[in-house]
Amino acid sequence: MTLSGSLVALSSPHETYTASVARARPNTDGTNPGVLVNISKLPKTVEVNITAAVTSLSVLPGVTSEAFAYNGQVPGPTLDVHEGDRVIVHFRNDLPEPTTVHWHGIHLPFESDGSPFHPIKPGETHTYDFTVRPGTAGTYWYHPHPDHRTGFAIGKGLFGGIIVRAADDPLPASIPDRLIILSDNRFLQDGAIDFPDPASHHGGIDEENGREGPVLFVNGHVMPTLTIRSGEVQRWRLVNASAGRIYRLALSGHSFLQVGSDGGLFEKPVERKDILLTTGERVELLVRGTDAPGAKSILQNLPYDRYAPQTRPADWQTTRDLLTLETTSEPAVTPVAIPTLLRKIIPLDTGKVTAVRTVVFGQGMINGKLMDMARVDVTTKVGATEIWEIENIVGMDHPFHLHGFQFQVLDRDGVPEPYRAWKDMLNIPKHSTARIIVRYDDYPGKWMFHCHILDHEDHGMMGVLEVK
Ligand code: C2O
Ligand code: CU
Ligand code: CU
Repeated sequence: MTLSGSLVALSSPHETYTASVARARPNTDGTNPGVLVNISKLPKTVEVNITAAVTSLSVLPGVTSEAFAYNGQVPGPTLDVHEGDRVIVHFRNDLPEPTTVHWHGIHLPFESDGSPFHPIKPGETHTYDFTVRPGTAGTYWYHPHPDHRTGFAIGKGLFGGIIVRAADDPLPASIPDRLIILSDNRFLQDGAIDFPDPASHHGGIDEENGREGPVLFVNGHVMPTLTIRSGEVQRWRLVNASAGRIYRLALSGHSFLQVGSDGGLFEKPVERKDILLTTGERVELLVRGTDAPGAKSILQNLPYDRYAPQTRPADWQTTRDLLTLETTSEPAVTPVAIPTLLRKIIPLDTGKVTAVRTVVFGQGMINGKLMDMARVDVTTKVGATEIWEIENIVGMDHPFHLHGFQFQVLDRDGVPEPYRAWKDMLNIPKHSTARIIVRYDDYPGKWMFHCHILDHEDHGMMGVLEVK
């Protein structure tokens, strides 16, 4: 690990956890967050300990930054499970403020969703208990979801990856798997993470844009080097844990084969020159080592104008480097064959739709209202299928997120979605409309839907869906 730029936990009240973090997969690199250790002896059971606590990180030279961390590290260790596993998380809140752990994208009982309805006070413990449903293999993430404080808590360092593995993954097992969590942050000269006074000019810009920072992290490291062998194919699972930054990713000299999205694999791989990754969203890509030994490619963040003109950052058109991919000098390997059919995704049945909901993203509000925990915005029944028409009537992008249930996109601005995917995040570009279809399987409860620009969410761009 390089010193400058790597987010290394310097001290943690829970060093035992940190020390016991195991390496995830054989083909790892210095940036891999490692996995949560399974302490269960039972089959098909993953039982882990997670503690959220204040920690100290070394980011800028010569100073330390007070941060929040899961088990003493940023990002937190990965929850690595299989479909069908029962997951038991013994969580302890050692933070000076209430928190929750939200399992973003996972289909689970309401009581374990870690939404603002179930805060955990400082010093308290809570056990999250859920079973990972078959058919949900994919890449997810966990993060706090306290009322009004989500952006602060995630910005302080609380986020980690979740990998749900399938028993019958169609991709060859020989393909190395990499988890790549993207985040950005902003620091003051004394090392403190910069959360300006909301009443200040900068505070106002953050509230409008979602808080962005000039330091771009890959698994908590700045500009790390990953390696690939000539001919090798790697599976990259990317997570956007940024508060407001929407990435447009490209790898110089390469294209990607996108194989999946939020809720797992597509039906067929899709060739892409660049990938738009909105906040909270995940993609699974195959990266092919097509270069000669010693060659270096750069994963870059290309300009993407998600902003309103009044608060668009002056440098928004700057391309920023994220990581170096270096081809090793090992002898080339023969590329593995990638299946052309990954899995079947059954389309949700538009003939069964019992309601069409309208969600209007306006200036800081949804359907003209601010979030109210005491109000239910949409009431429906377990098993119902509905269409949501999500319209963005303002001049900046708002990424839509629904808790608890994966949906399918029907169309965007009337253009039918070219292929099927399971999604829980959907960017709604400025002045555009998308239609999604969702079925509320299995779990009653009160589920949040919101804009996943964390500053917008915290300031009230959220609603409650009650499934009875
Ligand atoms: Cu990633 Cu309601 O959250
Ligand atoms: Cu979520
Ligand atoms: Cu928004």
